[in-house]
Amino acid sequence: MSDIDEIKSRLNIVDIIGERVTLKKAGRNLKGLCPFHSEKTPSFIVSPDRQTFHCFGCGKGGSAFDFIMLLDHIDFSEALETLAERAGVRLERRPTDTPEAKLKQRILEANHLASEYYHYLLTKHAVGENARDYLKHRGVSDKSMKTFSLGYSPNNWDGLLTYLHKKGYEDAVLEAAGLVIRGTRGCYDRFRGRVMFTLKDHRGNAIGFSGRVLDPTVKEAKYINTSETPVYVKGKVLYALDVTKDAIQKANEAIVMEGELDVISSFQAGIANVVAIKGSAVTEDHARLLRRFAERLVFALDSDLAGDAAARRGIEIAEKNGFDMRVATMPSGKDPDEAARENPGLLKKALKDASPVYDYFLSSALTRFDGTSSFGKRKISDEFLPVLHKIDNPIVQGHYIRKLAEALGISDETVRESLAKHRVSRVIPVREVAPGAQKPVLSRLEKAEVYVLALLLQGKSSELWSSFHNMLPTPTFQYLPVRRILESMESYIRKQKAFTVKEFADSLPAELVPAFDEAFLWDISTLLDDDVRFAREWEKALHEVKRAHVRQRMEEIGGKLRDISISSEEHDALQTALKGYTDEFAALEKGS
Ligand code: CTP
Ligand code: MN
Repeated sequence: MSDIDEIKSRLNIVDIIGERVTLKKAGRNLKGLCPFHSEKTPSFIVSPDRQTFHCFGCGKGGSAFDFIMLLDHIDFSEALETLAERAGVRLERRPTDTPEAKLKQRILEANHLASEYYHYLLTKHAVGENARDYLKHRGVSDKSMKTFSLGYSPNNWDGLLTYLHKKGYEDAVLEAAGLVIRGTRGCYDRFRGRVMFTLKDHRGNAIGFSGRVLDPTVKEAKYINTSETPVYVKGKVLYALDVTKDAIQKANEAIVMEGELDVISSFQAGIANVVAIKGSAVTEDHARLLRRFAERLVFALDSDLAGDAAARRGIEIAEKNGFDMRVATMPSGKDPDEAARENPGLLKKALKDASPVYDYFLSSALTRFDGTSSFGKRKISDEFLPVLHKIDNPIVQGHYIRKLAEALGISDETVRESLAKHRVSRVIPVREVAPGAQKPVLSRLEKAEVYVLALLLQGKSSELWSSFHNMLPTPTFQYLPVRRILESMESYIRKQKAFTVKEFADSLPAELVPAFDEAFLWDISTLLDDDVRFAREWEKALHEVKRAHVRQRMEEIGGKLRDISISSEEHDALQTALKGYTDEFAALEKGS
């Protein structure tokens, strides 16, 4: 048995969650108020059978590991250690025993000492005077110098090297930490004569440094950063998250800025829920990490073309991670640092007025292409149609259809037609739902499909299966995870005859487990005690899904019929099919 299985077998999720959430019995499951979002009626379900939890309000769910990872904002290895200790399991390979782990630890210690050394020189020593003046001049307070562990690297070749030698760190570790560079005549300090920003991970470990020149006339790079090391990966660091994570969580919003000084100035101006991506682009790692603290992202990047491209790329990534996103336009082309120092009120207003990303995409496309030429119109609509397409709410979508139409001087109808074509040609993407991740908002139909699965799994599955299967063939299901679970169920039943839900769940691939749990943990405890009510509800649920499926077929055919390039035979065939579905739909309407 693996460590993880051993731990799981010794612990009961009900005890672990029960310590943090008040749970009440609801049929086979337990129910409580979700700790991950605020609610008044409980939609947070814990299943002792499955040893999982699921919130029907916010969509979070998973194992005991996922629960404490989410609640305590820790990563998997930390959760593993916590629960191993609790279960009294000695981890086979303690992650801290390997040579790599030891080197990492040494690097973090060396960085920590370096940060203290630089900070001391900046705040207490004569050599730091210029740097101190520089920061003061840029409006950085003494308090911020401490909060953000700012420092100064002296302008000589071995200040830090000598200091860390004395502390017992050998060249190899310092080189691996990126603090020194090995030259032909030995090692020398990497950072010299710069204002130092300590880069920390969200737990406050010093993982690297960023050094800014003091003298603007020198021909060196304005900033130099630690190169990649075993503890510093460029696309992972979010500057200041260690300081600002609580504010981010409280606001349920993270404001993403470009540079260290943008963050520090905003923080001083009372805007505390900020991080910086250090002039790079938002990566998957950034998005995943931030998602642990907030559901909303506001981009406050520099208002230049690079900032625009970075924002548009970042939006795609953030969208995949289920963020609600906005883009703030900085007052009169300033960066947030300047705005915060000149007029904090204006910066706050710009952040508050941040526009929904849809507006941002449209105005970005309109500034980059000429909306009056036919070529420009095409470019703009090529960019904006996929965005329009993603908007689920028809009212919001209508709003942006009108905006695009107005901007291009064409009719709403033309936009709608292009959008319909775009839709027909599109393949339905797989929406993987990772454990603990924010689940995508399900459409009404998708929800209805999950509900049917809930009744099927929690009711007398073997008896329900055949009537169900005749009425709703598996391939007609739209929500891919449900469809795939039904496919597995079909082959399971064909092989096993009798249906045991637990065994079936264990046979599912991991990526389907969240969807399975969502259905299996759906609270229908009151129906389960009453056969008559259950039968009625089952009938109703099947009908709803069936009607929606038929309606969808009709819409698809309608879309194809509008395509003027089809032959008259195709047209007739489609008409006949449409008639069939229309009749079926009418019958269903009557029957229900
Ligand atoms: N940056 C970097 N390396 C560079 C230039 C920039 O890592 N050679 C990062 C820094 O984190 C910097 C951010 O990108 O804070 C924004 O860069 P830029 O817009 O050039 O910086 P400014 O805002 O002009 O920097 P400052 O406020 O320090 O003058
Ligand atoms: Mn700046």
